[in-house]
Amino acid sequence: MGEKRNWRVLIVDDDPQIIEMLESFLKFQKCYEVHTASNAFDAFNVLDQVVDVDVVLVDINMPGMTGIEFVKRLKDRDRTIVAAIITGDPSMDVIVKAMRSGASDFLSKPFKFDQFQVALKRLIKERSILLENAFLTEEVRVKKLLEQMNKKLERKMREQSILFSINETLAKTKNTTELYQTLVDLGASLLDASTAMLWIKEEERDSLVMVASHGEVWEGLDEIPCSDTSNPVIKVIRDGIPVLGKNPIVVGTTKKSRDGAKGCYLMVPFRIREEILGVLGISSRDIEAEIAHEYLFLLHILSERASLTVENILLYDTLFMNLHATLRALVRSLEAKDPYTKLHSERVTQWALEVAKKMNCSEEEIESLTFAGHLHDIGKIGIRDQILMKPGRLTEEEYEIIKTHPVIGAEIVGHLGLLHLETSIIRHHHERWDGNGYPDGLKGKDIPKLSRILAVADTYDAITSRRPYRKAMPDRFAYEEIRKNSGTQFDPQVVDAFSLIIEEKMKECQEE
Ligand SMILES: [Fe+2]
Repeated sequence: MGEKRNWRVLIVDDDPQIIEMLESFLKFQKCYEVHTASNAFDAFNVLDQVVDVDVVLVDINMPGMTGIEFVKRLKDRDRTIVAAIITGDPSMDVIVKAMRSGASDFLSKPFKFDQFQVALKRLIKERSILLENAFLTEEVRVKKLLEQMNKKLERKMREQSILFSINETLAKTKNTTELYQTLVDLGASLLDASTAMLWIKEEERDSLVMVASHGEVWEGLDEIPCSDTSNPVIKVIRDGIPVLGKNPIVVGTTKKSRDGAKGCYLMVPFRIREEILGVLGISSRDIEAEIAHEYLFLLHILSERASLTVENILLYDTLFMNLHATLRALVRSLEAKDPYTKLHSERVTQWALEVAKKMNCSEEEIESLTFAGHLHDIGKIGIRDQILMKPGRLTEEEYEIIKTHPVIGAEIVGHLGLLHLETSIIRHHHERWDGNGYPDGLKGKDIPKLSRILAVADTYDAITSRRPYRKAMPDRFAYEEIRKNSGTQFDPQVVDAFSLIIEEKMKECQEE
């Protein structure tokens, strides 16, 4: 209502005496601002010009338009203006008509001013209440509108941040298993869902198998047969259309799933190279079904971005595998040229892997060692056959040339990018524990662990293989040579692990 002001009263009467009397009475009170009109039409003109008239006192009988008709129109115009009808004869019929028109009170002629004052106070009070109500109603309306806008804005902002984190997070995943888990975790956290699941189609079993999940997962969802056509998961994969259900129940028969009547579930197809290979689903008790379609859109985006990432991973894996296979074939053909080194790298890799497993190396290290082991001598491509396959002992000069092969090998693999660990394993596979190796003379633990492992395996295979200048040495001799050089040429820990393996094998041989 703002600042305090006098109440505005409009008197409408065709009798100037009545107007004069009421006006002087009101002015005498000093808390009213009085306006007057001699007929209904004049009165509307005043209402157009004067802002916020609070009370209208109107004569019932006026030429042109009756007081009752006037009140009706007045109320249509503004429900909060209060009107009282001035009449000399308040019959029941008049009262009913006046009330129906929206009048709040009657002022009987002749006026008794004490009664008039009481009536006026009541009218003012009514006006205050009506104004307050209108204000509150408006406030509630605006508040609701604001809330809706806020919600919309929040959702838009959330969408933006979701899109950003989808791209960020997915870009970090390296393999499909990791990606599937990331996908359901993202689905659940970004969409505020209690449960997220991803199924991938298994053609051989003719069913959808859950490959990743987040949160509580209901019974019977691990594997869904394609024949279960009433299941929404199967519907999505069959029709390729997202599904939205007004209930968090997916399928399954546990008590919990039957309890939840609120919330909903959403499912979208998961495509790889345009083919529907799976279904991504979330379920929540908190998402209202009315706004679920917006979430469906987000889930769809999430699924699409993940599809692209899987495609990239698969593409990278394929390229990588092809490249590895090509390089491996190259090393094999290189080794096949020389009967003394045939399949050397394959054997070295097998020994190195056994040692690495004995030393509890991680899955990632094993993968890198497999790659680097097969290719550790690839740098020999750059060395002339006359030196590589020289039947006699090498001159010092020739030996220096041979010593360049780890650097050349690291350069070849280094050009593939992303293979930093593998590159450094290859570069350092001829370093020695005491620092007297090549190419960089690294010492002790400065040498990559996997290079130290490779060094032992490489030497063992070299000793036990036939050489142009000597016959193959027995396993025991090679084993003792390696033990003898523990702490000088080789890492003692690697030698210990290697010894365990050799001893186990010797024991097996004896038992046979
Ligand atoms: Fe080598």
